[in-house]
Amino acid sequence: MTNDFFEAPSDSSRLKADLVRAYFPAWARVVASESPRVGYFDFFAGPGRYEDGTPSTPLLVVQAAADIGTIRPKFVGTFNDQNPEHARSLERELAASDGVAAFAERPLVTSQPVGPDLVSLFQTRHKRVPTLSFIDPWGYKGVTASLLRAAITGWGSEVIVFFNYSRINAAVANPAVDSLVVDLFGETRARDLQLSVAGLQPRERERRVLAAFGDLMLEFGAPYLIPFRVKRGTGNTLHYICFVTKHRRGYTIMKDIMASRGIVDVDEVPQFEYAPRVDGRQIAFEAERPLASLGSALLDEFAERTLTFQQLFDLHNIGRPFVMKNYRRVLLELEASGAIKVTPTVSDRRRDSLAPRVRLTFPPR
Ligand SMILES: C[S@@+](CC[C@H](N)C(=O)[O-])C[C@H]1O[C@@H](n2cnc3c(N)ncnc32)[C@H](O)[C@@H]1O
Repeated sequence: MTNDFFEAPSDSSRLKADLVRAYFPAWARVVASESPRVGYFDFFAGPGRYEDGTPSTPLLVVQAAADIGTIRPKFVGTFNDQNPEHARSLERELAASDGVAAFAERPLVTSQPVGPDLVSLFQTRHKRVPTLSFIDPWGYKGVTASLLRAAITGWGSEVIVFFNYSRINAAVANPAVDSLVVDLFGETRARDLQLSVAGLQPRERERRVLAAFGDLMLEFGAPYLIPFRVKRGTGNTLHYICFVTKHRRGYTIMKDIMASRGIVDVDEVPQFEYAPRVDGRQIAFEAERPLASLGSALLDEFAERTLTFQQLFDLHNIGRPFVMKNYRRVLLELEASGAIKVTPTVSDRRRDSLAPRVRLTFPPR
């Protein structure tokens, strides 16, 4: 990794920090309503500030925690960076930040390579503390199945991980780094993956590698994964920012946050992707337009049922790219064409509105 990483944030570093900073307070408010403590564990924290003065993720999260009266007294923060200079710099930055003085407990900064000792520290210091973990390495060394398991286990705990696809993909077939691949996926899954990707086209290969990660998370009890793809200018995948949770609530919150930061297709369906801007780029004519088939999918899935808009959304959106406004648009079209019945009827509602409580009645198919 180049040493200029911390000179000034790249667009993709800004995006990453923005996702974490936006999600942390939303998640913290939810868990704080049921927990006396709220944790944040940053395994690869960095120095806290770029050389150009821009605050990075640890400072943004600490400020967000300090800004919320219900979180401040409950905040348990742990920040680690193998590089002692980064750890010292972060310590100084935290000491100088207004927020930290307001915490009941001073954040802990450690400096060690991510490995079993740090996992033990997590398990003791954050025991029974619902914790949002941020795992943001330069490569993927240190990102192991045991770390991920520790971070995602426990009530309310969730993970945001920088999944370095380009490096991991190259590693899968490289015997020189086999032990790292096994550390990440576990022996059996690593071997299955190595066998299954051989000879595949890049797109399918990417799907398999990501699916192996998803399966690992599922094995650890976390069925909800949102992989936000960051592309190179060429269109190839550089990395993913993966959000992993055990709860629908967190999934829905982060889905909205990611949807609002990534690109959308012509129908305003989020693609959960970030790509550097390229002047003159046009959407390909053959681009998939998933919204086009959403109406008939809903007519099939909910045939002969009556349910609220909120219930339909909760049942249908998981694992699909659509957000509330995509469903609203399609349901209003179905109503206008007479394909479904909406109560209250259109004459008793605000124009183009569809509140979460309206009732939708689907005909038989
Ligand atoms: C991508 S940067 C982290 C950026 C940070 N999350 C932010 O938002 O500013 C990766 C950091 O991990 C540290 N690092 C690299 N290898 C490490 C390891 N094996 N264990 C712990 N920290 C490591 C580096 O010193 C670097 O500061």
